[in-house]
Amino acid sequence: MSTQQHLVVVITGASDGIGAEMAKQLAVKHKVRLALVLAARNEAGLRAVAEVCKRFGSVCLLVKTDVGVESDCRRLIRETVETFGGIDILINNAGKSAQALFSEVDNLGWYQELMRVNFWGSVWCTHAALPYLKESKGKIVAVSSLAGLIGVPGRTAYSASKFAMNGFFESLRTEVQEAGVQVTLAYPGVVATRIRYHGYNAAGEAAGSSGLKEEQAMPVEECAYQIIQAMEQNQREVVMTAKGKLGRWLRLIAPGLVDKIAMAALKKEVRPQ
Ligand SMILES: NC(=O)c1ccc[n+]([C@@H]2O[C@H](COP(=O)([O-])OP(=O)(O)OC[C@H]3O[C@@H](n4cnc5c(N)ncnc54)[C@H](OP(=O)(O)O)[C@@H]3O)[C@@H](O)[C@H]2O)c1
Repeated sequence: MSTQQHLVVVITGASDGIGAEMAKQLAVKHKVRLALVLAARNEAGLRAVAEVCKRFGSVCLLVKTDVGVESDCRRLIRETVETFGGIDILINNAGKSAQALFSEVDNLGWYQELMRVNFWGSVWCTHAALPYLKESKGKIVAVSSLAGLIGVPGRTAYSASKFAMNGFFESLRTEVQEAGVQVTLAYPGVVATRIRYHGYNAAGEAAGSSGLKEEQAMPVEECAYQIIQAMEQNQREVVMTAKGKLGRWLRLIAPGLVDKIAMAALKKEVRPQ
């Protein structure tokens, strides 16, 4: 622990979805021993999450952060260290989705924006936090996606940003393990949050609907639980769902079949004609 009193955990994208749920589950588990640093843009969302966590005795620091802005990421880490004296765990969870066929995109500006949020946001936070994580022999979590292991149609931007995350954190793991820092990559499948509704469409606007079949989406509680378990057990990675685990290996021997399975996950109206 970085301070006598607290386990200091920074969570990006903590105002909603998986990040908010991880914050609550950690508060239930660690209660008064926990200092949570909750980061995202929506301050009302952060306050609502903090209210729940405080009921279990956890201390919360809210830092309004756009992870697509480098100076915000650096300020997040600076304020954490100024307040709590160090960092034990950094959970890079903030992320944005997108669903668009590449040939239907006119302006690629939002591809760059997605990369800033999903990839660079994690890199900037991790870069700023690493000296403190080395000091505490702490942990880094990177929330990637099954779409970061297998290219998914309609997800050229999203898959690229998540593949980039994997490459970065896989490499970093080998660099920091001697210093005692653990890196866990999480690969959720389809989880029941609003991410696809807020994600970009081909025009770079909020999609307002999901292009995926959502019926069998994993409950957000289960996803958050699996990530926390993997992190606490110092696992290298957690690949969620049997389909995800199977798809990864099937890809080596029958990649064409995996392409077909990925296409079948899309609703008909968003498939290439
Ligand atoms: N849900 C799934 O099916 C699924 C599957 C695989 C992987 N994932 C990954 O899991 C992570 C969490 O997703 P979720 O499903 O929980 O999504 P969500 O419910 O939409 O929540 C996303 C969180 O990220 C934050 N965020 C978005 N853009 C941000 C920015 N520029 N700066 C700071 N925070 C930002 C949002 O907060 P503000 O809007 O307040 O900033 C929110 O707290 C993402 O990295 C996502 O790619 C999700």
